[in-house]
Amino acid sequence: MKIIAHRGASGLAPENTLKAVDQALKSEACAIEVDVYRSGDRLMVIHDRWLHRRTNGTGQITRTSLQQLEALDAGEGEKIPSLRQVLERVAGRCDINVELKGDDTLELAHQVIDYACEHYGFSTDQFLLSSFNHHLLAQSRQLRPDLKLGALTACLPVDLAAFAQQLGAYSINCDVDFTNQALVEDAHQRGLKVFVYTVDEEEDIEMLSQWKVDGIFSNFPCRARAKTGSKVSAAKQVWAD
Ligand code: G3P
Ligand code: MG
Repeated sequence: MKIIAHRGASGLAPENTLKAVDQALKSEACAIEVDVYRSGDRLMVIHDRWLHRRTNGTGQITRTSLQQLEALDAGEGEKIPSLRQVLERVAGRCDINVELKGDDTLELAHQVIDYACEHYGFSTDQFLLSSFNHHLLAQSRQLRPDLKLGALTACLPVDLAAFAQQLGAYSINCDVDFTNQALVEDAHQRGLKVFVYTVDEEEDIEMLSQWKVDGIFSNFPCRARAKTGSKVSAAKQVWAD
């Protein structure tokens, strides 16, 4: 079972910061998930549209200048990193799931991924683009059919995983609270991987292992890895394995 560090190893360091990324790398997570919003011509790694929960700032990220954002404390003296900074830090050592939060993030995400493949030792295969905004996923499918897509859902759809297959997704990324065995089996029958968020409880890990899900998003990747017996590999972890 693949262990994906959720917002970096966000149980151990402020979420979506370089410190959380470092902790995820130290935990030897197979992949790291980060959330991105756009500010000007940059993708910034942050989960919330509003700044007050995770930083000492206020207001909306999309209405705050880059200069102001760079001055904020995102916890323990960490800054809000750009996606490019995160990828430079990871340097191809594990897979990356970029979750698109803002509806203006897609084009820049494609550009940053290409840049990281050219300059930071990644291959395109190592990226999974996901979003709750399925219009963005459909656009990405048209523009960049080479990029893997994770179709996020926070519900249990009537047609189970059909929506993800229609999007041409690689995986269904579903909420542990609305995941059942029927959804997992349906997704697998459609050729989709199943990644479940956010899974930190031992009983949930056991249940999902029995259902044979392909991966879990964990705030404590090291602990999750120990519980699942997930093997560490020095080699790059590619989503396809
Ligand atoms: O991508 C999995 C998970 O991160 C989706 O929910 O709100 O934590 O971004 P959220
Ligand atoms: Mg996320």
